[in-house]
Amino acid sequence: MIHTFQTIARIISGNGAVQSIAREVHRVGATQALILTSTGLVRRKTHLPIVADLKTHGISATVFARDTAEPCPADAEDCAAAARSCRADVIIGLGGGSILDCAKAAAVLTRHPGPIEKYFGQDLVPGPCMPTILIPTTAGTGSEVTSIAVLEDKHNNAKKAIVSDYLYAKAAILDPELTVSMPSRITASTGMDAFVHAMESYVNRTATTITDGLNLQAMRCIARSIRTACADGQHLTARADMLYASALAGMGFSNTQNGVIHAIAMAAPAEHHLPHGLLVAAVAPMGIMFNCQAAPEKYAHIAEILGCDPQGKTPQECAGYAACAMKDLVADLGITPGLAAHGIKRAELRGIAERAAAARRLMDNNPRQGTADDLHALLEEYF
Ligand SMILES: [Fe+2]
Repeated sequence: MIHTFQTIARIISGNGAVQSIAREVHRVGATQALILTSTGLVRRKTHLPIVADLKTHGISATVFARDTAEPCPADAEDCAAAARSCRADVIIGLGGGSILDCAKAAAVLTRHPGPIEKYFGQDLVPGPCMPTILIPTTAGTGSEVTSIAVLEDKHNNAKKAIVSDYLYAKAAILDPELTVSMPSRITASTGMDAFVHAMESYVNRTATTITDGLNLQAMRCIARSIRTACADGQHLTARADMLYASALAGMGFSNTQNGVIHAIAMAAPAEHHLPHGLLVAAVAPMGIMFNCQAAPEKYAHIAEILGCDPQGKTPQECAGYAACAMKDLVADLGITPGLAAHGIKRAELRGIAERAAAARRLMDNNPRQGTADDLHALLEEYF
């Protein structure tokens, strides 16, 4: 079997790494930057050191702030229009996954005609886009290292992804100091999203030795640091573990796919407006129960990473402990497993199961296949 592994070409990491921004802008040959960020980060003045560093080095910067939890096509169009009007030749995305996804989608529209919807899907972007430099301020999506931009498709009340090699950023800057102000609740849900990215990529049927290396290290870093990062946001070592793990998992899962946990989490009705990471964390224990005997050796490793002692246990026994260890972890982070606690009604389970089973991109390479009936039974059992 021949596999292709692709990833971003350049990652700058470390406390204070954001001060390399002007050097990175020069590297792409740009002189005029559009900084896309959130209104919350502007209020906290997070963007100011970036603007200052750019100005010191003769690079003009225009700040474009959006108050957007879920970017939609109009956000990408507005950002692209802002980039055109200030004659930007680089887009800097500073924020959580939604902002970074919006920056990538806007970069498409600065070089290719809209509407952005025509690029939803795989490899539909026809050529290079405006260069992007991505700076995450949360640790979860791994968007800074992936070739994917997810936007909300308002017509279908669904999320759609643009997947293209042209979406890779020219550089990702991972600066743990930028993540210390993230509230504990968001640290927990985004951190669990990153753990599940690594776990679902690790057990995926398309996993390789290369993605295993990335995903195992991502899970180790998160398992040892997520409780600390939630309890003490200023703990820079824990913050660094979380930020680097999120990028490692992003490098892993963008070369495989996610699996049943994401299939179920993404099938939850949008009108509940539940954060993606929270849903993923709530579904994680049942997803492990569903999968673990289909890949016992791998789940035994996951159980060990989550603190189980494999001594005297068969891989099958050890794999079974992974779900309990995951339940303990999410409980420690203040997240109740199952969907009932998050406002989802029993009557909605059938629809969730049907949409999840139909999510072929996620289910086809999941270690265990499942029909809508199988997933419905799972959702009922762990409701
Ligand atoms: Fe996710």
